[in-house]
Amino acid sequence: MDKLNWEFTGMEHDLESILLTGEQIQSRVRELANLIAEDYMADGGMDARGPVVVCILKGAVMFYADLIRFMPIPISIDFISISSYGSKTASSGEVSLKKDLDGKIEGRVVLIVEDIVDSGLTLSYLLRMLSARNPRSLKVAALLDKPSRRRVPFQADYIGFAIEDKFVVGYGLDFDQLYRNLPMIGVLKPECYEP
Ligand code: PRP
Repeated sequence: MDKLNWEFTGMEHDLESILLTGEQIQSRVRELANLIAEDYMADGGMDARGPVVVCILKGAVMFYADLIRFMPIPISIDFISISSYGSKTASSGEVSLKKDLDGKIEGRVVLIVEDIVDSGLTLSYLLRMLSARNPRSLKVAALLDKPSRRRVPFQADYIGFAIEDKFVVGYGLDFDQLYRNLPMIGVLKPECYEP
């Protein structure tokens, strides 16, 4: 097992470049976790249970797990699953709910955690849906932002990195369900997704 590394498995060879190393990601995620925690504490708006931090499955799992691990405040966790229709490399913007939150969010402080904002359609849909449940506040933290891809206006409250319009995988982001477990984020070689 000691010999097993990304080089050896060959997954890294499918990347044409590494956009963000695991170390860069970890460092930014720690900064964001502290910033978010400070904002909630300064707000005076937290109850004893703290915010409900919501993970949007599946792409956000890595970011979510690291972010909450470094947030030094009480939180509760919940998960939501959205299905967006489209090709394997771009969403069509049509979204539907596959798994709802387990808990109620009325009157609660809520932070939604997402891996990437692309067209903005997924988060617009989610914010509309969750706002209707009357949370005390509703904010969004997204690891990556591709502002040039927006089809609807959308601005996350917290962003890890703004990136160009390249097809990226790793650290939760997939192509056809692969590459999510890479610790870094890289640009996928076109021959890996073009027919
Ligand atoms: C991806 C990503 C976001 C959404 C962003 O999800 O995780 O949820 O697309 O795109 P948008 O801003 O254009 O709506 P995907 O449907 O690929 O599912 P996954 O999270 O399971 O990978």
